[in-house]
This record gives sequence, C-alpha cells and structure tokens, in this order.
Amino acid sequence: MKLSVVYHSKTGNTKEMAEAIVTGMERVAGVAAKAFPIDGVDEAWIKESCGVVLGSPTYLASVSGETKIWLDNCARKLGLAGKLGGAFATANYVHGGGDLAIRLILDHLMVLGMLTYSGGGAYGKPVIHLGPVAVAGHLEEYRETFELYGERMAKEAAVLFG
Ligand SMILES: Cc1cc2nc3c(=O)[nH]c(=O)nc-3n(C[C@H](O)[C@H](O)[C@H](O)COP(=O)(O)O)c2cc1C
Repeated sequence: MKLSVVYHSKTGNTKEMAEAIVTGMERVAGVAAKAFPIDGVDEAWIKESCGVVLGSPTYLASVSGETKIWLDNCARKLGLAGKLGGAFATANYVHGGGDLAIRLILDHLMVLGMLTYSGGGAYGKPVIHLGPVAVAGHLEEYRETFELYGERMAKEAAVLFG
C-alpha cells in the first residue's frame, strides 16, 4: 500500500517533519511511503497512493502561497477523490496559526473529495485534533508526535484500503 506526503518548504523545517511522517507511516506493515516537495511530486506514485498528507509552513496564520497555488492548480489533476487525506504545518510560534493552516488544507482536501482524517483523540495521548504542528527551532521535540501521526494515518489507510 502506497502513501504520499507532499510539502512546501523554503528553509527545511516542513521537509524535515514530512520525512518524520514518512518514517511513522512505514512502521505499519505493508506500507511504502514517500515524501515529495510540492514542485517535484511523482504523479504516478501519488495516483497509486491510498492516502496523501499535505504540509505547509505557516505564513500569516495560513498556508504559504505556494501551498495554496498547488491546491488550486495541481492537486485537482492528481485524482485525489476517495483517498485518505491529512495535513500538518510548521510555524515559528505555538500560537502562530499552524492549526489554521491545517484547517485550510483539510477544507481543500474535502472539496477535492478526500476522506480527511487525523486520528483526533481516538488514540489518546498525544492527542492530535486536526494535524500536527511543529515549532521551528524545536523540531526534535515534535519528531515522535509526527512519527505517531504518520503511523496513525497509515493504520487508518490500512483499515480502509488494506
Ligand atoms: C512570509 C512568512 C510568514 C510567516 N508567518 C508566520 C506566522 O504567521 N506564524 C508563525 O508561527 N510563523 C510564521 N512564519 C514562520 C514559518 O512558518 C516557519 O519558520 C516555518 O517552519 C518555515 O518552514 P520551512 O522551513 O519549511 O520553510 C512565517 C515565515 C515567513 C517566511
């Protein structure tokens, strides 16, 4: 079962956390996961994926312009309808709007017909309501949560598509 993580990253933080999500996804037996920068996706891999998670740096308490443009112009061509969808963000501040960036991505994924998911509180701690947010300069503190998020997404994909 294939899974994809797509990210926009200018200074590397979002890329690093995308790779942590991939690590967590691959903890689930039978899962092959790959991370792609927004301007270098493997379209064939994404089309064959059961789930796609999209990550953005938080810009002005929202997604980056690059992420919005990708959602508006590129994501529509990837046949995402019916796949599991998730979102994550990085930000400079805990209260800098990462959840709002995630929410915007999830709204778009729903419009594209995806089945959005996070695990919510169903797995207990760490509770991840909408998607994980990592704070720049403290990425190591968030790594395990991102790996767990990837694992939870992959487990759900296996339930739905395995
Ligand atoms: C134009 C711009 C706007 C930003 N706005 C916010 C913001 O509203 N809230 C916040 O917490 N961080 C903000 N940041 C910080 C980035 O979200 C943060 O450094 C992020 O981890 C960068 O991701 P990257 O290394 O993957 O590019 C902003 C950064 C830039 C360049």
